Amino acid sequence: MKKTVATFKEAKINNEKLSMVTAYDYSMAKIVDEGGIDGILVGDSLGMVTLGYENTLAVTIDDMIHHTKAVSRGANNALVVADMPFLSYHISIEESIRNAGRLIKEGNAHAVKLEGGRDVIDKVEGIVKAQIPVMGHIGLTPQSINMFGGFKVQGKTIEQIQNLIDDAKCLEEAGVFAIVLECIPEKVSKIITESVSIPTIGIGAGKYCDGQILVINDMLGMYSDFTPKFVKQYKNLKEDINEAINNYIKDIKTGAFPEEKHSFNIDEQILDKLNK
Ligand code: KIV
Ligand code: NA
Repeated sequence: MKKTVATFKEAKINNEKLSMVTAYDYSMAKIVDEGGIDGILVGDSLGMVTLGYENTLAVTIDDMIHHTKAVSRGANNALVVADMPFLSYHISIEESIRNAGRLIKEGNAHAVKLEGGRDVIDKVEGIVKAQIPVMGHIGLTPQSINMFGGFKVQGKTIEQIQNLIDDAKCLEEAGVFAIVLECIPEKVSKIITESVSIPTIGIGAGKYCDGQILVINDMLGMYSDFTPKFVKQYKNLKEDINEAINNYIKDIKTGAFPEEKHSFNIDEQILDKLNK
């Protein structure tokens, strides 16, 4: 069944948990889509896990469009959400709408996600008015790493908690269809989740969120630079890939690969003529 922003809103009403994962290319998008995932986020985490940057700040709108196109081609049923990268929605409402529009028109995403609450509310309203569904993202917002001074759990003081609740409510009022809660104590996520009628999608935000999202490379054990506490590793593909590569190398060195079944044949008569 095709998932839409309406599906997401209905899920909360029906008390059904939403499943999301990131993907950055066609093959992975196709696998997770066929697996039945509700939503695929083309996260700007691609800067770290697929492009090898230290953080997400260097990712450009063109990077995002390039990868969103690939993911959209592989996703038949999942809702495809594309991240707006750093500085693509900070300068003006016009520029924000133009960039969000490119992720939809060129990237074929169904929705965009951007980080922040009241700070970016005018941009959220502008994009929503342009008929582009927006997903919010509050708590640990990685594009603010230089302001936070590192990747740290958010929502630990009364002031921070109140700010998170107010941001969530303002985002809902501005028309977002869902909100990502990142690295927030679970009891705080519970309060936020109960204060809005749109679904909350947690990452490091505990069990009370309306859905969960993980970075695909983290959950499959393919990114070992840094693994946060909140990641559950469902597979260790790094180990499996290592083993496969070792066997491949060994087979090449010993001549065990390729075998006849991997090779193409030619009519012996033609070879005879060639040798004359
Ligand atoms: O970029 C990303 O992968 C994200 C998720 C972690 C929510 O924003
Ligand atoms: Na992101």
